[in-house]
Amino acid sequence: MKILVTGGLGFIGSHTVVELIRAGHEPVIFDNLYNSKIETLDKIKKITGSDVKFYKADLLDPDSMETVFKENKFDAVIHFAGLKAVGESVQLPLRYYENNISGTINLCKLMEKYGCKNIIFSSSATVYGAPKSVPIREDFPLSTTNPYGTTKLFLERILTDLTVPDKDLKVILLRYFNPIGADESGLIGEEPNGIPNNLMPYIMQVARGILPELGVFGNDYDTPDGTGVRDYIHVTDLALGHVAALKRVNTGGGVDIYNLGTGTGYSVLDIVKAFEKANGVKVPYAIKPRRAGDIAMCYADPTKAKEELGWEAKKDLETMCKDSWRYAQSLTK
Ligand SMILES: NC(=O)c1ccc[n+]([C@@H]2O[C@H](COP(=O)([O-])OP(=O)(O)OC[C@H]3O[C@@H](n4cnc5c(N)ncnc54)[C@H](O)[C@@H]3O)[C@@H](O)[C@H]2O)c1
Repeated sequence: MKILVTGGLGFIGSHTVVELIRAGHEPVIFDNLYNSKIETLDKIKKITGSDVKFYKADLLDPDSMETVFKENKFDAVIHFAGLKAVGESVQLPLRYYENNISGTINLCKLMEKYGCKNIIFSSSATVYGAPKSVPIREDFPLSTTNPYGTTKLFLERILTDLTVPDKDLKVILLRYFNPIGADESGLIGEEPNGIPNNLMPYIMQVARGILPELGVFGNDYDTPDGTGVRDYIHVTDLALGHVAALKRVNTGGGVDIYNLGTGTGYSVLDIVKAFEKANGVKVPYAIKPRRAGDIAMCYADPTKAKEELGWEAKKDLETMCKDSWRYAQSLTK
């Protein structure tokens, strides 16, 4: 299939492009390079041995996007492009609503104009808010606690509404849990700007000596060791979830929703210990007060994706830690 990958040079997008090529698909990337680097394109080519078409285009500049649609006929769009920093979204809500929501509306208008009937959308476990229990199933109630999460929830609703008048439109909502790790080549991975929000990028910066210690936000949650529990999934497994989701393309219109997680929860201290053991590197940490909006436990019930897509996460925590570190060591400070 010929697939438009928006945000295809970002963390999850670049790994998905690699797996799409390996599975015999033809991805075409567009990205405005706001949170990614053009060098990633060459690295994707190096890993796969294939050429990949790239357009520098912006969701907020429909003319730049229209060129992409004029020059290609897509079977499906995988839509990663968006802003994703929770804390920043609280400070800059308009920027998040405009980029993520207006940008996606621009994309959908072009899909309609050029007759593209399939979209796979990057949603997030954040749409479950504070879940009443774990593991979390797709039919749990939805709510959000910050503008970033609200953009995901609104976009799920907007995309769902589009399937009412257009009976041929297929919308696949993939709710990701916590992607970490990197392609085993060590060439592509996650490289956040500034002080990271997420645990693994934070651990990397401590392990590389950029930050003195890891802040562990709260050790009095109702969890086995008191620190927050999350469902960490290898980014390559997550990427393969998108390849599996392509099975649902052209199966008639409507909305399909899948959790993409491992189904196992690890605490912050589990991750610190696993990272130290896998890589032989110390990660000093200090307990800090809880962060507003953080929840105690969040992990997926991934049964639906297994049953309907034949997909399940395979890579273990040791591999995630080793692959994250291999990539982090390749970065200049
Ligand atoms: N990483 C996570 O933990 C996580 C968890 C759940 C959901 N998600 C969602 O998955 C998607 C991909 O996440 P990621 O971690 O790869 O993020 P990322 O920032 O690495 O990738 C997003 C890409 O989109 C591009 N982009 C942003 N705004 C754009 C615009 N207006 N026009 C064109 N390109 C634009 C950026 O340059 C970047 O390359 C995002 O939608 C994110 O919200 C991520």
